[in-house]
Amino acid sequence: MNRASRRVASPHVVCIEDFRPLARRRVPQSVFDYLDGGAEGEVTLRENCRVFEDVTFRPRHAVVVPECSLRTRVLGFDLSLPFMLAPVGYSRLMHPGGEVSAARSAGKAGTAYILSTISGHKLEDVKAASSGPVFYQLYLMGGRAAAEASMERARVAGFSALVVTIDTPVSGIRERDFRNGMKEMISGGLFEKIPFLPQVLSRPGWLADFLLDGGMPSLENVVVPGKGPLPLVDVAAALAESAITWADLRWIRELWRGPVVVKGVLTAEDARRAVDEGAAAISVSNHGGRQLDGVPSALRALPEIVSAVKGQIEVWMDGGIRRGTDIVKAICLGANAVLCGRAYAYGLAAAGEAGVNRAIEILRTDLERTLKLLGCPSIAALDRSYVNVPRGWEES
Ligand SMILES: Cc1cc2nc3c(=O)[nH]c(=O)nc-3n(C[C@H](O)[C@H](O)[C@H](O)COP(=O)(O)O)c2cc1C
Repeated sequence: MNRASRRVASPHVVCIEDFRPLARRRVPQSVFDYLDGGAEGEVTLRENCRVFEDVTFRPRHAVVVPECSLRTRVLGFDLSLPFMLAPVGYSRLMHPGGEVSAARSAGKAGTAYILSTISGHKLEDVKAASSGPVFYQLYLMGGRAAAEASMERARVAGFSALVVTIDTPVSGIRERDFRNGMKEMISGGLFEKIPFLPQVLSRPGWLADFLLDGGMPSLENVVVPGKGPLPLVDVAAALAESAITWADLRWIRELWRGPVVVKGVLTAEDARRAVDEGAAAISVSNHGGRQLDGVPSALRALPEIVSAVKGQIEVWMDGGIRRGTDIVKAICLGANAVLCGRAYAYGLAAAGEAGVNRAIEILRTDLERTLKLLGCPSIAALDRSYVNVPRGWEES
């Protein structure tokens, strides 16, 4: 067992929350807050996690459940787990292994990894690292020409699906990032950077890793034909021009031809529209509370969307998942599978690939224990009868 694995083994890390102080200690404040924070007053961010307390279990006791199956089918793939790793931008700033480590870890665990457009490693390297399915999350950064080039690269490399995120016409305002000088650190001149340098210098281990990794990464998968990868300094401006419309989605579908997943659905109306537009799946998501503050938690939005979709396509959900019990509750409410964002990214920031492996392991053992305590033999057998939901949720 190497040092990083030891650092995140029990008893130091028993649950996902235990990664947070470790991550906070290893990476600069600006990187930690970019990962941990949400938009504006962070109301939706908090509610994403809190809302799981509103749903309680209805266990079947005095039944024998010798083995529990966690197997789940997603887009025709047989996964060993009912959760996948969500796209998380700037993963390479959290740890040099970044997206490659997360993809390898997901593959080893028998689940899928979704690579963000905002990634520092080449998509070909990410695909090569994983023994499991890998999907590509698409923003129209750099315009249609750059998107077309990345779709072609993703197709050739063997990515199996596109995940199109529709909730980011502009970046949400994450106030912690402003206070920490994220903009100045990425795109400012030396004088603008000076006030924020102490937070970087106080994390020498991270700084050494960062410098040995070549410093500020470019966006290796956003390449406007004839130009190089998009520098990080241009990300905010590029994102502001990359709003995706339903017309873009049609264009993407025609070009990609494989399965397209729409991520960022919060209403029955958008869910039905996604079905009509030929999506293979949707993810009920508020981007982990990082975009429009004040929208409902993803779990609360789930029942309305599950009934609107009527089983025509897969419904995924993401936001606030920190425990296996959260995953089980989301599946009881009708999700086919969930995505975890911060749950594994805290592990990545705390200890690189060893941290991601440990995060996945914690959630896996949580799930097995929860199914046994519920008296349910498999993820596939979960349904609404295993949970109590608050009054009002049933009608939606
Ligand atoms: C640091 C960070 C970066 C993210 N970057 C992206 C991204 O580039 N594209 C995207 O579609 N979603 C992105 N997300 C949202 C996640 O894919 C997912 O929706 C969210 O993390 C789920 O909430 P959770 O973190 O509570 O699990 C990001 C989330 C975090 C925490």
